[in-house]
Amino acid sequence: MTARSNSDTLITVYGGSGFLGRHVVRALAKRDYRIRVAVRRPELANHLQPLGKVGQIHAVQANIRNGASVAAAARDASVLINLVGILFERGRQRFDAVHTIGAEQVALAANAHGARLVHVSAIGADEASPSRYARSKAAAERLVLSAQPTANIMRPSIIFGPEDDFFNRFAAMARLSPALPLIGGGKARFQPVFVGDVATAIAIAVAGNARACTIYELGGPDVRSFKQLMQYVLTTIERKRLLVPLPFFVAKLQAMALQFMPTPLLTPDQVELLRVDNVVSEAAKAEGRTLHGLGIEPEPIEAIVPSYVWRFRKTGQFRNRIA
Ligand SMILES: NC(=O)c1ccc[n+]([C@@H]2O[C@H](COP(=O)([O-])OP(=O)(O)OC[C@H]3O[C@@H](n4cnc5c(N)ncnc54)[C@H](OP(=O)(O)O)[C@@H]3O)[C@@H](O)[C@H]2O)c1
Repeated sequence: MTARSNSDTLITVYGGSGFLGRHVVRALAKRDYRIRVAVRRPELANHLQPLGKVGQIHAVQANIRNGASVAAAARDASVLINLVGILFERGRQRFDAVHTIGAEQVALAANAHGARLVHVSAIGADEASPSRYARSKAAAERLVLSAQPTANIMRPSIIFGPEDDFFNRFAAMARLSPALPLIGGGKARFQPVFVGDVATAIAIAVAGNARACTIYELGGPDVRSFKQLMQYVLTTIERKRLLVPLPFFVAKLQAMALQFMPTPLLTPDQVELLRVDNVVSEAAKAEGRTLHGLGIEPEPIEAIVPSYVWRFRKTGQFRNRIA
């Protein structure tokens, strides 16, 4: 009997059109898998085609809030990957519906089709958290493991990479604004992790080389406070800006107004998330449920972030012209 090659193996990636999705699809394409990207609007996933060979990647319609479409997208797949997530709620896109019930639907589909499952959660997932985002992620982990007990769960800290929403957002703010806010004094600690490393971790799980029924916590090599990250952004883009401490209650009042923007700069729920550290736990380190445990040496921000925030430097345009 001939061994099954990756090109015979179909992987369905829910949420494959997003920031992490693009890198996961690239990592899987490099390993020769067939990839089905399950998205709400397949026509918006065309940017993924150049990441693979002709015919290797195709998009199908699926809304994680619709169980039938989730199940249809799982058909014939050997592995399902769930990357669907939202940062704020709009209309029917509620944390519970998308993160929790949606994730359970994917896990039920995996179980029904005999597929393995890699589910992406987030560090900070906690059913006792004051943040509804964090509660919905924790409830998802519980339901996912109950519906598909062999699942691998990946909890990243904040993810960085060329299209990220963190360093790009604050570098852009620093270009326009004389000051950057430090919510709660900027004391919350983060462990930024490179999107390529998260994608590699997922690919390792897809290959069956991660522990089943296990929650991995994915962080980069360095732990930095929010204030240190803002200082790093300013140094990297060569701008001097005031860093203004903002007590949590003031930030929450501002967030109450900002949450109604089409893409809110800040929501009250996100303020709650900033009250706690977002770092890999000691338990995960001790048990090897980390990038190192998967054999990955994580990239530091210094190796990657300057390559894409340079355009926010004062001298960026000039350098671009002579480059
Ligand atoms: N980025 C980070 O720093 C970070 C940190 C920790 C954890 N995570 C987790 O990592 C995962 C990926 O995050 P990301 O940064 O790549 O987010 P993203 O860029 O916003 O991508 C989210 C994806 O979910 C899809 N989606 C949203 N609602 C959907 C629905 N109802 N049905 C089907 N698809 C839906 C989006 O597609 P459309 O909206 O176009 O349909 C998009 O493809 C999420 O679970 C997130 O919580 C991210």
